Amino acid sequence: KEIQQQIADFQIDNKEQLEQFRIAYVGRKGVVADLFEGLKNVPQEDRRAVGQELNTLKNFAQHKFDEFQVIMEAAGDKSVAFEFDLTLPNIPFENGTIHPLTSVKARIIEIFEKMGFNVSDGPEIESDFYNFTALNFPENHPAREMQDTFFIEKKGGNVADDILLRTHTSNVQIRLMQNQKPPLRSIMPGRVYRNEAISARAHCLFHQVEGLYIDKNVGFKDLKDTLYHFAKEMFGKDTKVRYRPSYFPFTEPSAEIDVTCLICKGKGCNVCKYTGWVEIAGSGMVDPNVLEQCGIDSKEYTGFAFGMGIERITMLKYQIKDLRLFTENDVRFLRQFEGV
Ligand code: PHE
Repeated sequence: KEIQQQIADFQIDNKEQLEQFRIAYVGRKGVVADLFEGLKNVPQEDRRAVGQELNTLKNFAQHKFDEFQVIMEAAGDKSVAFEFDLTLPNIPFENGTIHPLTSVKARIIEIFEKMGFNVSDGPEIESDFYNFTALNFPENHPAREMQDTFFIEKKGGNVADDILLRTHTSNVQIRLMQNQKPPLRSIMPGRVYRNEAISARAHCLFHQVEGLYIDKNVGFKDLKDTLYHFAKEMFGKDTKVRYRPSYFPFTEPSAEIDVTCLICKGKGCNVCKYTGWVEIAGSGMVDPNVLEQCGIDSKEYTGFAFGMGIERITMLKYQIKDLRLFTENDVRFLRQFEGV
């Protein structure tokens, strides 16, 4: 890529520069030829792919050389700076593709926007207060260990002052409730971090979308309806949705939401651990303690919250079986999402 950029940037205004370009990039002793020479040291399994890339580079250099040779010939001995023929074909850069996590995030936002949610944002580097304490995680409570936290700074005083990488997007809930008055109806997409070993199913960095709806008379039925509608829109009408009782310190009651595994169509596979169901979100009614902490009268207002993993949803939607593919930037993977 770097050399491709050098080739693209190389300025050719006269015949000497054209010759310099030829020697540096096109000729048999040039950079590209050197790279081809090194191909024999590339492991057998990668050689094809690297070879293809080199061919692209070689054609690219040759193309530029040919183009300028024509220009120079037409110009005779004159310098040709700024006399480019704008009707010549463009330098052959390939189009990129939108990352699948980006397009799924956009789709999630679209679905919730149609239900009247707006989008909010918050910091990834966060204090313990917003990530845990304000969300009703008591100090020294084992619930803090549910999420393996990367701490940046332990202040050694009040734990609420410690600095960490947020383990979930729920910190944005708190910031929103502190800064705005209900009714609130917002989703909060963002990156989160957990100290987990990287595998096909877990990563130390992933993405969530938090949702928060606070108003008068918001009930559990609203939570169920909202997420049911979301699942049908996202995965199709045939998708089944189920709610399982669960526990989160900041919601009561709490539920986890499962949908039919789209990889095996509910028949059982290693992604759904042979249950036919995949968990896509945690959710629940916002605990009155949390509302009060943020200055919202819990007798007047109620609300629900949910948090879902974007990677999980993308894997289901596109039958991707390994989480690591999202961060490896392998173009063979990414190109499959062309036009999605
Ligand atoms: N923050 C929870 C998690 O990351 C998910 C969640 C969000 C649960 C909102 C309930 C309400 O596991």
